[in-house]
Amino acid sequence: MNHPAMQGLNLNTPSYVKNARLIAWVADMAALCKPDNVYWCDGSDAEYQRLCQQLVDAGTFKKLNEAKRPNSFLACSDPSDVARVEDRTYICSADKENAGPTNNWMAPDEMRSTLQPLFDGCMKGRTMYVVPFSMGPLGSHIAHIGIELTDSAYVAVNQKIMTRMGKAVFDVLGVDGAFVPCVHTVGAPLAEGQKDVTWPCNKTKYIVHYPETREIWSYGSGYGGNALLGKKCFALRIASNMGRDQGWLAEHMLILGVTNPQGKKYHVAAAFPSACGKTNFSMLVPPAGFDGWKVTTIGDDIAWIKPHADGKMYAINPEAGYFGVAPGTNFHTNPNCMASLDKNVIFTNVALTDDGDVWWEGMEKDGGSLPAHLIDWQGKDWTPQIAKETGAKAAHPNARFTVAAINNPALDPEWDNPDGVAIDAFIFGGRRSTTVPLVTEARSWMEGVYMAATMGSETTAAAVGQMGVVRRDPFAMLPFCGYNMSDYFQHWLDMERKLESLGHTLPKIFCVNWFRKDEAGKFVWPGYGENMRVLKWMIDRLEDQAKGQDTIFGIAPQYAEINWTGLDFSAQQFNTVTSIDKAAWTEELKLHTDLFKQLEHHLPKELGETKAAIERRLAA
Ligand code: OXD
Ligand code: MN
Repeated sequence: MNHPAMQGLNLNTPSYVKNARLIAWVADMAALCKPDNVYWCDGSDAEYQRLCQQLVDAGTFKKLNEAKRPNSFLACSDPSDVARVEDRTYICSADKENAGPTNNWMAPDEMRSTLQPLFDGCMKGRTMYVVPFSMGPLGSHIAHIGIELTDSAYVAVNQKIMTRMGKAVFDVLGVDGAFVPCVHTVGAPLAEGQKDVTWPCNKTKYIVHYPETREIWSYGSGYGGNALLGKKCFALRIASNMGRDQGWLAEHMLILGVTNPQGKKYHVAAAFPSACGKTNFSMLVPPAGFDGWKVTTIGDDIAWIKPHADGKMYAINPEAGYFGVAPGTNFHTNPNCMASLDKNVIFTNVALTDDGDVWWEGMEKDGGSLPAHLIDWQGKDWTPQIAKETGAKAAHPNARFTVAAINNPALDPEWDNPDGVAIDAFIFGGRRSTTVPLVTEARSWMEGVYMAATMGSETTAAAVGQMGVVRRDPFAMLPFCGYNMSDYFQHWLDMERKLESLGHTLPKIFCVNWFRKDEAGKFVWPGYGENMRVLKWMIDRLEDQAKGQDTIFGIAPQYAEINWTGLDFSAQQFNTVTSIDKAAWTEELKLHTDLFKQLEHHLPKELGETKAAIERRLAA
């Protein structure tokens, strides 16, 4: 035992763990956090079942009806711990300017002194789980390894689904392989004999990243992106730093394959803000009029993209599962997702039916009616009458499912390919009820970067905060870019030169907005599977088979260039979602000016030049 503080605590290090840095770090963290036990996860199915049963016994999990939802569980969180906490999320770079104006910052030393007393003894009365995971296929040259230390069995079982988790990671790690150390605690130590609650957490929360030393420290929350540290913390915030230093991209993007009736396949990576339908788009079922077309999922949330010597950009999905928003998901919006959820799922904060199944808002559209009675996500009785009188939601709007990618019937055969897939197009989609048209194609890489940098979004339930307010969400990375946003724009611009020097035609960049509303405040574009019509137009553009038309903001489709078979959508409706209103754009550009003012430190001058070109077109 190296540490006096650990007298009597057995680290239980398995003999197959040979990485000296890892062994020393686990010892240090155990000395600091003072758990009662240390348990090294092996990632086996038996272990998963054992931990799930332990969570059932503790009252954190409810086992769902085996006949209706085999091997599935429901967890309901503390009502104060339901979403990512962006105001408690920090990028602690040595230099404040490296975090930039879009991130919370504290000097690393100051943060370490703040966290030290919080972590001291934070795991008393609990087990520290050592969770080894690979983001990306094990051993892939694009993948990276993380080790999460957590006092939450809920986190350990979620990580089993969301990542390649288990013993095999130690083989890849070897004696001296690199890993990202991730420490997580719910921040609720137990005194001798103290009874635990079903969802321990702490009012104080810190989600902290040290980009230089590539460390993650998370305190006080057991929920989602705050606690499953492979996802937003590692695969985006820390990985974006790795990508900048090593010449690749870590993006908040789904990846899909789309195959035409002749069998030609394309790969598209698409960025949308949180809870704007990325999972739906990545599992899209082509509508009537698209016989022979197929869409397959590689990833639904995150893409790691590396330029290759052949001049193409290759992308992997670093995750192995989906942590998706349940409300709104049904057989109309996402039939493949509904099929994925029929077994082996962990649900969080959805409602429980009287027959031991799950329910969330949006499911009534499948069944045709609301259930007569439910237990809502807070454990209270819910009936349609109560909902009508009080507005109570049965499921929390940010309720989630955790499910393995292999459950998805539309899973792409290449999803696990360690070399990734070659990207043909990028899509950037905001959530705007006005102004931004249904789809336009950037005339150049620069114009595409401009479109992505100025993306706006009306806020959703994925993060704590006010709903429905428009905020700029550059590249859908506002809460996830682990360094200065303007340096990130520059990194994207540098990619063009890099890829051109390798002699490749760059992927095309498109900007989309599925969310335009009419004067009555209703969505005009039908969305979901119908987005295939827009995707097909993009492919026609890749193949030079659609001429499009110039607008102030890229090349837009002509009405006749979209395949309308099976959908009644008039030229007038098309105009409602594609029109460019000069007055609205004049206002919009003022907001771009505000954004650029906020990001002026290191802002690439090309963005200002591109804006000036848009202004000239607007004035013409
Ligand atoms: C997510 C998010 O959970 O973006 O994917 O918030
Ligand atoms: Mn996301």
